[in-house]
Amino acid sequence: MVTTQISIENEVTLRNLQAAYEGESNAHEKYAAFAIKADSEGLHGAASLFRAAARAEEIHARNHARVIRQLGAEPTATLHPLNIKSTIENLHEARCGERYEIDSMYPEFIREARGHNNTAALLAFEWALEAEKTHARLFSEAIAVIDSGWLIAARTFYVCTACGYTSETPESERCPTCNLLWEKFEVVR
Ligand SMILES: [Fe+2]
Ligand SMILES: [Fe+2]
Repeated sequence: MVTTQISIENEVTLRNLQAAYEGESNAHEKYAAFAIKADSEGLHGAASLFRAAARAEEIHARNHARVIRQLGAEPTATLHPLNIKSTIENLHEARCGERYEIDSMYPEFIREARGHNNTAALLAFEWALEAEKTHARLFSEAIAVIDSGWLIAARTFYVCTACGYTSETPESERCPTCNLLWEKFEVVR
């Protein structure tokens, strides 16, 4: 195995990658638990959404881990204890987490990676950012209809296996974020 010397320029990028890896690993665990809770409340559509988002966060963690290894380090994450509330509260918490990543975390990490020309990290952050936007939108839509009964039946979501882009409709031949062929998307219910 080839080990890479970690340069000073890569130190901050690496720290950001580890933070993103930990965030995505925790989001994956959290959404998987929220899905079980939603099923137990009879909100199977919300459970489908949490399962799709959980899968996307797993893909982000995998992508960040790959770049961390390319930079010569091992990915490490501390998983935090889960605090599972009602599904409506869980949807609000999920949206809040996505907003933090969209408004603060990923833009900062992207600026830093771009400043140091770390293209692999830049791509991993940009793909995650775009997918988190789809999650924030889907969580907002779910919150808006939670009382209408619309979320009772299980729903189908489509998750890009390369970048985590998540959609409720098959909308194009390729992923709008990373260009992956639609047939390679994963169907999550
Ligand atoms: Fe997300
Ligand atoms: Fe994609």
